[in-house]
Amino acid sequence: MVGFPVPSSVGAVIELLKKSRYAIAFTGAGISADSGVPTFRGPNGLWRRYKPEELASPWGFQRNPRLVWEWYAWRMRIIARARPNPAHYALAALESMGVLKAVITQNVDGLHQRAGSKRVIELHGNIWRARCTRCGHKWLLKEPPSEDELPLRCPRCGALARPDVVWFGEPLPERALREAFEEAEKADLVLVIGTSGVVEPAGSIPVYAKRSGAKLVNINPEPNRYDDIADLNVRERAAPFFRKLMASMGIAMP
Ligand code: OAD
Repeated sequence: MVGFPVPSSVGAVIELLKKSRYAIAFTGAGISADSGVPTFRGPNGLWRRYKPEELASPWGFQRNPRLVWEWYAWRMRIIARARPNPAHYALAALESMGVLKAVITQNVDGLHQRAGSKRVIELHGNIWRARCTRCGHKWLLKEPPSEDELPLRCPRCGALARPDVVWFGEPLPERALREAFEEAEKADLVLVIGTSGVVEPAGSIPVYAKRSGAKLVNINPEPNRYDDIADLNVRERAAPFFRKLMASMGIAMP
């Protein structure tokens, strides 16, 4: 640790991290906002411009699989151009130092893994994976599919494939959900970063952690559902906040 004074919220989070024995992070679209990936809600959110029931539901997919795939291919192009930001890198660094034990994410963009995080629990799937609607075969897409490939078909059985993400009205992957609640129960500190927390059951995970005895740090430039239960609300964007935090801890960023 370096000896110069640190901005107060940074100092407070460092103190909490130093005292914790089992810290985890719970992330949402806001952590990737500084990488240029749009969030869902808020003034420029995706759900302002697009209808979730048409683009992110089993019914929408049944009605127009090509349209749904076009929307996901467009998002994949944005994500492919994006780079992890200091918030993603900071979580990976804290994990490699043994401070952070897991990242539970609602994001499908894979930016935590690209930043080097190892234990990432993906609650809503991954946009880079496709899944056959008939045989269930899953495979990774190396790049965004081109228009003439859409809608994608299963390389094994030829049936229609879909993005391997969770849509409205669908259950979350059982194992990821179980592991997320187990981590929340073990945690004594949760860094809640860039989420509105309004989508269930994911949004309840920090609440469960709090009830199980964890402290919550809520990092978000806007008020959200965790304001009242958080031990510390940091009203800042994730990337600049974690850049300062890493600098204060003397950890180099890529
Ligand atoms: P939302 O779009 O609901 O919320 C994004 C949050 O990030 C808001 O609270 C913003 O204030 C905050 N935010 C914006 N910029 C930020 C920044 N630079 N740093 C930190 N925070 C920032 O996104 P999620 O909470 O992830 O589900 O939404 C949850 C789920 O709703 C998503 O996983 C998705 C969506 O429908 C599925 O697709 C199943």
